[in-house]
Amino acid sequence: MIEVANRLQTVEEYYFSKKLREVAALAASGKPIISLGIGSPDLAPPAKVLEAISESFTHPNAHKYQSYQGLPELREAMATFYKTQFAVDLNPTSEILPLMGSKEGIMHISMAFLNEGDAVLIPNPGYPTYQSVTKLVGAKGVFYNLDAENNWMPDFEALEKSDLSKVKLMWVNYPHMPTGAKPTETVFEELVAFGKRHNILIINDNPYSFILNDAPKSLLAVEGAKDVCLELNSLSKTFNMSGWRVGMVMGSAEHINHILKVKSNMDSGMFFGIQKGAIEALHCADTWYSELNKVYQERRKLVWELADALDCTYDKNASGLFIWAKLPEGVKSEAFIDKILIEKNIFITPGTVFGTQGEGYIRFSLCATSEAIKETIARVK
Ligand SMILES: Cc1ncc(COP(=O)(O)O)c(C=O)c1O
Repeated sequence: MIEVANRLQTVEEYYFSKKLREVAALAASGKPIISLGIGSPDLAPPAKVLEAISESFTHPNAHKYQSYQGLPELREAMATFYKTQFAVDLNPTSEILPLMGSKEGIMHISMAFLNEGDAVLIPNPGYPTYQSVTKLVGAKGVFYNLDAENNWMPDFEALEKSDLSKVKLMWVNYPHMPTGAKPTETVFEELVAFGKRHNILIINDNPYSFILNDAPKSLLAVEGAKDVCLELNSLSKTFNMSGWRVGMVMGSAEHINHILKVKSNMDSGMFFGIQKGAIEALHCADTWYSELNKVYQERRKLVWELADALDCTYDKNASGLFIWAKLPEGVKSEAFIDKILIEKNIFITPGTVFGTQGEGYIRFSLCATSEAIKETIARVK
């Protein structure tokens, strides 16, 4: 038998990769499963995006390797998007690197900046990939707890008291997944100051800014942020393009160059047509966002009703593609979702997927039709 690398001993198969097989098996056996599990948008991308990709097929360059840095027009479109949406100035030549989804950026950034034994601050609850990638590169994840009392913001006082001597990098994600907490007025300023004080690279993973959020914010809008910060963004949720795999990382030319060094050794550019489609998406008018959010508003109202029927509580001010709901006192997340899956054929994500701080919570996705959500309410009631 060929032994696997030591690094694989440190990580497990992604929760959804395993659980969705179980859910699929139930569906295949004839169970009428409704999934409110993952955040994979079911709505269509903008029509002009689809036109751009189909028109691209006959372009003489369409099927060739593409630039490692992406088309200049794509970087221009990303810069304009950041200027318009967040009032952030970025040099499209040197401060933006298009990615095949922001998830791969988590690996590239980690490869570019972490040595074995370096410590990484990771939110709990938070997106599980920060921890698994940290382990894959041989670094050490150090969780910082977020809780409802502190509006899911980092507790800087507690962080300052902890041993930060080995910490090289910190992942933050505002608006926050899974809780939907929006960045407070001061949190980004505090993060930049914290990063500068301790020489820690702060990365804001920002794919949810445009879903049910009337005040999108970027960490890079803080003065001097580029010295110690990077930001990831993505077209997956904003433009219903999760399967297309388009994201971007932004920051100082120096930091971006280090990431490019990793990335250019791992892939050979993004498919031409996808880049053309992404350019169109980034140029969408304001009506795109308002129409998209109308649909999510309607679904959210229904999910609130479902959560009420399950005796859960939730924050009506939260943003993003999910409803983060607290179970009745003493009820465990995984036992609860397994029961609902078996008895009601509804798949909901247990909060523990996102860390120990997720115990006692469940996460509903808004990526299901209103009809499907109404059906779940009927089953529960
Ligand atoms: C917090 C967070 N970051 C990153 C991603 C990955 O997004 P992308 O599709 O751009 O790779 C997700 C997707 O679910 C996410 O929830």
